[in-house]
Amino acid sequence: MEHAIWLPYCQMKTARPPEQVVRTEGVMLHLADGRQLIDGISSWWTACHGYNHPDVVAAICQQTQEMSHVMLGGLLHQGAVQLAERLAQMIPGQENKVFFSDSGSVAVEVALKIATQHWINQGIYGKNRFVCFQDSYHGDTAGAMSICDPVDSMHSHFKGFLLDQFPTTIPKTEQQLKAFKDFLLERRDQVAGVILEPLIQMAAGMRFHSIASLKGIANLCRELGFILILDEVATGFGRTGSMFAFEQANLQPDIVCVGKGLTGGSVGLAATIATQSVYQPFHTDSSDHALMHGPTYMGNPIACAAANASLDLFEQEPRLEQVQMLEMWLSGCLEPLKAHPRVVDVRCKGAVGVVQLEDDVPLQSAIEFFVDRGCWLRPLRDVVYVAPSFTMERPQIETLCAAIREYVDTR
Ligand SMILES: Cc1ncc(COP(=O)(O)O)c(C=O)c1O
Repeated sequence: MEHAIWLPYCQMKTARPPEQVVRTEGVMLHLADGRQLIDGISSWWTACHGYNHPDVVAAICQQTQEMSHVMLGGLLHQGAVQLAERLAQMIPGQENKVFFSDSGSVAVEVALKIATQHWINQGIYGKNRFVCFQDSYHGDTAGAMSICDPVDSMHSHFKGFLLDQFPTTIPKTEQQLKAFKDFLLERRDQVAGVILEPLIQMAAGMRFHSIASLKGIANLCRELGFILILDEVATGFGRTGSMFAFEQANLQPDIVCVGKGLTGGSVGLAATIATQSVYQPFHTDSSDHALMHGPTYMGNPIACAAANASLDLFEQEPRLEQVQMLEMWLSGCLEPLKAHPRVVDVRCKGAVGVVQLEDDVPLQSAIEFFVDRGCWLRPLRDVVYVAPSFTMERPQIETLCAAIREYVDTR
């Protein structure tokens, strides 16, 4: 049956009918026809505590009864104040500022606007473009699309519509780092900032880079006075093994974007966190220096209550230890595939396990294959991957990995 709904990243005419989910529980999706699927990708890497965690559900229910929404234009509520305080303290530096939005893409847009206006407010004009990286993905809105991989991203249709940015490759060696420095210096007067997904470029196919690369980029930004924007929308809240990926490189970003796991996978909410020095040029007597951005549902009380409950869970439950276990289990189950002739690479980091194949995986038939085995997996480009809830247990990981091994064998 044709539905009115228009689905994402989907040729509606030829796609297999989507599975109808009626209930979620823990790491399981319950389908309308009674089948159950182990969710191996935690709804695009959001449901870090598993679905329907009672603490998050209770916080949402209570907040809904008290106040489901109030605008932040001239009004404020305690949940947003508290959440901003907590997020501000999660990145290095004193008196950081937190700007809320409703999705990761918008958090990235806000970061781009903040970085651009940071210079304008100081009377420095022309620094309004960004250095970004091959294989990056930062979202589907126009500014975010412009800093995605210019060739391989799903946004290549929009080339003429998008702003020109300065894409380059992530430097991996000392020599490449030197070349990257020259690249930055040549564009110094035009560049507002450098934006990167730290350690794992997730949506482009789970591409990993080293802590040394991340550190090298950050050090150069610091040395040359470039604003470093880290997009932790996907990597934040434990996914790579630390609360934020940047912590592993012991560095100080200037702006950090978060979303996805912020509410434990329950309600849409995102935030852009800026350091005091990025914020300073906005804090003047001129109304012209204000940040002119304000999503209607920014800092929604229900979403903030969910996020505060989710952060409590990170404090009370051993999430990062669970992520360590997941990395071990995923490595143990997937690494044997390294020897497989059709496998190009197997890599695991935190709660991400990746099997990279020779060619792009045909999405529809792969989904069907995994659903037939009780698994919800959605390959990306040439990788089949697992990015589960951090509460997933070993038998479920083994089932997912067995399905992946069988898929690779029979493909
Ligand atoms: C690194 C990164 N940034 C931004 C986004 C966009 O987030 P949203 O889909 O919430 O707009 C994504 C989504 O996958 C992402 O992975």
